Amino acid sequence: MVLKPASELNIKNILEKLNTFNSDPKNGTTRILFTKPEIEARNYIKEEMKKNGLTIREDSIGNIFGTLKGNNPDLSPIWTGSHIDTVINAGMFDGMTGVVAGIEAARLIKEAGVQHKRNIEVIVYTSEEPTRFGLGCLGSRAMAGCLSLEQAKELKDEEGKSLTEVLESLGYNLSEFHKIPVKKGEVFAAVELHVEQGGVLEALGLPIGIVKTISAPTNFEVSVKGKQSHAGSTPMNLRHDAFLVCSEIALELEKLAKESDSEDTVATVGQVNVLPNASNVISGEVHFSIDIRDSNYEIKCKLVKELMEFVKELEKKREVIIEMKQINDDVPTHSDDKIVKILEEACNEKNIYYHKMVSGAFHDSMMVGRFAPIAMIFVPSKDGISHSPDEWSDYDDIAKGTDILADALLKLSNS
Ligand code: GLV
Ligand code: MN
Ligand code: MN
Repeated sequence: MVLKPASELNIKNILEKLNTFNSDPKNGTTRILFTKPEIEARNYIKEEMKKNGLTIREDSIGNIFGTLKGNNPDLSPIWTGSHIDTVINAGMFDGMTGVVAGIEAARLIKEAGVQHKRNIEVIVYTSEEPTRFGLGCLGSRAMAGCLSLEQAKELKDEEGKSLTEVLESLGYNLSEFHKIPVKKGEVFAAVELHVEQGGVLEALGLPIGIVKTISAPTNFEVSVKGKQSHAGSTPMNLRHDAFLVCSEIALELEKLAKESDSEDTVATVGQVNVLPNASNVISGEVHFSIDIRDSNYEIKCKLVKELMEFVKELEKKREVIIEMKQINDDVPTHSDDKIVKILEEACNEKNIYYHKMVSGAFHDSMMVGRFAPIAMIFVPSKDGISHSPDEWSDYDDIAKGTDILADALLKLSNS
C-alpha cells in the first residue's frame, strides 16, 4: 500500500488540543457556535490545516475548507470532514474525530507524494449541533440550499440574536450568502468519518462501521397554554395543567415510536421549560421540544400525522391551546453504492472486519447527500455513549478508520 498508516499520536494530540477550547472543562466539552472557545478552535484547526499543506478558504456561513491540491484542480473535488461545535457537556469526539481524521488522511496522501487528480477538501461544517440556534447542520444545510439568508435572519439564539447578526459581527460577508449552495455535480464524492455514538460496533466487537443510511430528524417546538392556578385549592376536575399536556404528548410519542413499522423510529422530548416551575402552582405554560427520527421518511410522516391528530384531540379534552412549530423535516440520506464498495474494498485489503449499518444520529453528510454522493465511516463508541462527558473512542480505532478514509479519498481522487 502506498500510504503509511495513520499516526495515533497525531490524532490524539490534535483531538486533545481541540479539547482545550472548552467553556466548561470540568463537565466534558462545551463548544457552542461562535463563542470564544469555538472561534479559537476554528483558528487552531485552520493553523493545523495549513501546517499539513492545506490551503484555507471560508464561505459566508463559516464553513471552513482546507484544500489539498490535486494534479487536475479543474475536476470536481472529493470532500471529507465534519464539525467542531458541540452540545452542552458533550464529549471530545463527536464531530472533531472526522475533522482530525480528514487532516491526518490529507497529510498521509501529501507525504506519500502519490499522484492524485482531484482536489481533496477537508471541511469544518458550521454548527452541526442545534445547540445555539435550535436547528442542526447550519453550514451543510445552507450548502444544500435548504437555509436561505431570509431563514438565517429568523434563527435566533437564547439572547434573541439572529444568526445573520452574529455572522455579520464576526465579519462574514452576507452579500455572498447566495454563493454558499453547491450544485449537483460540483462535488465528486464526500466521505465523513464519525464516532458511532451507539453500541452496535462494540457489541459486535468490530472496529469499523460503514453507513448505509442516515436517519433524519423532524423537530418541533411546542407551546402549551393551560391555566396557572393554586395547587391546593384547585380541584382535579377544574384544572388545565400544561405540564400534564406535555406529559401526555411525550408518552404518546413513546408509544407511537415503539409501535412503528420501522425499527429505526425514535422520538424524544429532551427540553422542557415549565412555567412558573413552582411546587405549589399548577403550570400555566410549558414549552418543549420534540425530536423524531427515522431511516424511513414515509413512516416518519405517518407518525407525525398520528401525533398531530392526538394533539388536536388532547387540546379539546384538556381545554388548552397547543401550538406546534415545525423547525425542520429532513429526509434520510442513503449512501452511494460505489463509495460504499470502495470503503469495503479498503477494509478487505487491510483485513479489517466491518459492519454495514444505519446511523441513528444525523450528520452533515445527511445534507451533503442532497447534492453529492456520500458515504460514512463509523468507529466504535465506548459503551455506546455520546452527547455526554463519558463519550470515548479508542485512538487505535480512529487510526484504523483514518486509514480507510485515506485510501478511499485517494482512490476517489483518481476516479
Ligand atoms: C447530532 O448530533 C444528532 O443529534 O444526531
Ligand atoms: Mn452530536
Ligand atoms: Mn456529530
